[in-house]
Amino acid sequence: MISTRASSAVAGRKRQGEATRSDETTCSEVAPRQGRGVVSRQCGEEFGGIMGTLRSRRSCLAVPGSNVKMLAKAQGLPADQVFLDLEDAVAPLAKPDARKNVVAALNEGDWAGKTRVVRVNDLTTKWTLHDVVEVVEGAGQNLDCVMLPKVQSAEQVAWLDMTLAMLEKTLGLPVGGIGIEAQIENARGLVNVDAIAAASPRIETIIFGPADFMASINMRSLTVGALHPDYPGDPYHYILMRILMAARTNDLQAIDGPYLQIRDVDGFREVAKRSAALGFDGKWVLHPGQIEAANEVYSPSQADYDRAELILDAYEYYTSEAGGKLGAVMLGDEMIDEASRKMALVIAARGRAAGLTRTSRFTPPE
Ligand code: GLV
Ligand code: MG
Repeated sequence: MISTRASSAVAGRKRQGEATRSDETTCSEVAPRQGRGVVSRQCGEEFGGIMGTLRSRRSCLAVPGSNVKMLAKAQGLPADQVFLDLEDAVAPLAKPDARKNVVAALNEGDWAGKTRVVRVNDLTTKWTLHDVVEVVEGAGQNLDCVMLPKVQSAEQVAWLDMTLAMLEKTLGLPVGGIGIEAQIENARGLVNVDAIAAASPRIETIIFGPADFMASINMRSLTVGALHPDYPGDPYHYILMRILMAARTNDLQAIDGPYLQIRDVDGFREVAKRSAALGFDGKWVLHPGQIEAANEVYSPSQADYDRAELILDAYEYYTSEAGGKLGAVMLGDEMIDEASRKMALVIAARGRAAGLTRTSRFTPPE
């Protein structure tokens, strides 16, 4: 049995509150990583769990590794993350060439401001090992995360963790520098999602893969994301919440999957709003037309962001000596206390990562 923190590669990926062993890299020594809106992981910083640690991933753009034109075009699009796909968007016969395209695109492309991810094939196929080896050997220094689809167990994540560690050591890359994104796409994956989310300190996100998931449980609909007329609720609610709880328990981000009706941006927005309301951090986008909607839906509004920053400043002031060492105070019509501060931390961190700037300031009373 592999322990849930099974990992050969914890250096630099330690979570808040974990002790630092002398033979491990400390948080401040993590290799600098590219990516827009990275909220840096700082040891000991008291910064509300998940939001103190990871990158902005409001829009995660799928780019088929077999399509050289799209690999070039994606570089100029305003997605927070790109994932260059070697899995289901690439036909079996095209996979060997797609690996080469992906390596070339990572090394020669300009991905500034974006998190760079490659989705490899799942571990029941014959391709996974060569996907990982070829991509990391060829472009490991230009890669932020490997996405593992159809994850079913913690052991599968542990395999990827150890394989990455071996490659990093061989190539002289910082051990633990490449992250893992785990995609939940079937019943077994969902049932094991707690163990999966805890299986490696490399994991940054848990992703819902609705299309494969619907197929795996025989859900009676062919439209991904759509509500079903015969079911009086949201058929995805349980799955999304299950993923969200596993993610948050382990300080990870939760990412919603694709919406396949790519011309229906209103439909995309509607589905995205549902997972954003629950607390999801972002969603896949399959088409440039969906990017703006995703960036908007998963960012806090300017008013919410301003209010969050105001709460943080006010709370800091009122709990201080100068502010009277108060634990609960009125801010306008709202009573704020430690729990308000925690909620505000999340929204403020999201706003900062999304590039918002505040338009109001807290002024202490005379
Ligand atoms: C994505 O991979 C999905 O299956 O929805
Ligand atoms: Mg899938």
